[in-house]
Amino acid sequence: MKIRAAVLHELGLPQPYAESKPIKIETLELDSPQMGEVLIQVKAAGLCHSDLSVINGSRPRPLPMALGHEAAGIVVEVGEGVTDLEPGDHVVCAFVPSCGHCLPCQEGRPALCEPGAAANGEGTLLNDGRRLHLNGEEVYHHVGVSAFADHAVVSRTSLIKVVKDIPFDELALFGCAVITGVGAVVNTAKIEMGSTVAIIGLGGVGLSALLGAVTAGAGRIIAVDLNESKLAKAKELGATDIFDSKQPDFIEEIRRVTGGGVDYAFETAGAVAAMEIAYKITKRGGTTVTTGLPHPEHKFSFPQVTLTAEERTIKGSYVGSCVPNRDIPRFIQLYKQNKLPVHELLTGSITLEEINEGFDRLANGEATRIILTF
Ligand SMILES: NC(=O)c1ccc[n+]([C@@H]2O[C@H](COP(=O)([O-])OP(=O)(O)OC[C@H]3O[C@@H](n4cnc5c(N)ncnc54)[C@H](O)[C@@H]3O)[C@@H](O)[C@H]2O)c1
Ligand SMILES: [Zn+2]
Ligand SMILES: [Zn+2]
Repeated sequence: MKIRAAVLHELGLPQPYAESKPIKIETLELDSPQMGEVLIQVKAAGLCHSDLSVINGSRPRPLPMALGHEAAGIVVEVGEGVTDLEPGDHVVCAFVPSCGHCLPCQEGRPALCEPGAAANGEGTLLNDGRRLHLNGEEVYHHVGVSAFADHAVVSRTSLIKVVKDIPFDELALFGCAVITGVGAVVNTAKIEMGSTVAIIGLGGVGLSALLGAVTAGAGRIIAVDLNESKLAKAKELGATDIFDSKQPDFIEEIRRVTGGGVDYAFETAGAVAAMEIAYKITKRGGTTVTTGLPHPEHKFSFPQVTLTAEERTIKGSYVGSCVPNRDIPRFIQLYKQNKLPVHELLTGSITLEEINEGFDRLANGEATRIILTF
């Protein structure tokens, strides 16, 4: 079938993207779903920093690639062997397909699926194929989803079936920002009630971590960003203290007001500078968690002795250490009880044609989650 999709043709073009136009809206040929695959109608897709990192060259990927990975939609057709989904089901996309058989999958860590990671790196679906074509040439899939398009063919394991009574723009957020941010707090760090938490970087992932920290019963919640509007939003959503990281001495100030640092610091900016802040404001014996995905050549360093003599822990958190089939329905349930007000992350919706401008707004820090709706 013919679809309209956002395709990236060149990495690292300069901003403003409204002028350089790294993304072009193309008519692609989309194959039918094969064995173990599903055709979905995309209803909403969020603009995430991980898409931006492909566009700006921080996460180099093969091109041309159809972007987009934070999405929700409706099942249209199932391929052979898919028996547990049917047309009309509402689904959220997961950005790591999982094979169910490799060691991480068997250990209950599908976010670390080895064939899933390999397929994502190569820009294919889980079973090695590509279903997208532009003028007869194959187009790469973005993390097995490619959701900036009216339709997508994805692996069954890239989908989580969900309830039907949630608006699609809010539903889309669960696929990336929410699962990553909330998961980092409740799965990776497993914070204790009353513990002191800091979040550095208040975009979709960071504000989701903040919502997760509030719901998990964090005592003091310190929010840090460079952008005043993000700090104001964090305060509104439950941060007890806000700090502008452009101010001098804010690190000392955080250490002072927390009596020596926080129990858990979350780096949710995707920058080494933010990770350095996170490490410096973690207390002796505390844990620093990073969810950011900076350029592969950017290195974070720290005095090794602090790790030992202060019994510090540094943890990485991918897909919030989640089991998407378990956690997305859980987080949706909390949202329905007003305990995870994820709609607060929405900063407007756009059409496919406005996508380059949308990424300018994300890159400039003006927006939290802009949603493409179809
Ligand atoms: N681990 C995962 O599974 C996963 C999933 C999704 C996104 N990510 C990554 O998480 C990061 C955040 O994603 P997002 O979509 O929320 O991004 P975003 O662009 O919406 O937000 C990033 C925020 O960090 C702030 N920031 C940047 N540098 C800072 C600094 N030095 N100090 C304080 N604040 C700073 C920005 O002002 C912005 O508010 C990105 O690196 C993204 O690729 C990881
Ligand atoms: Zn994302
Ligand atoms: Zn696996």
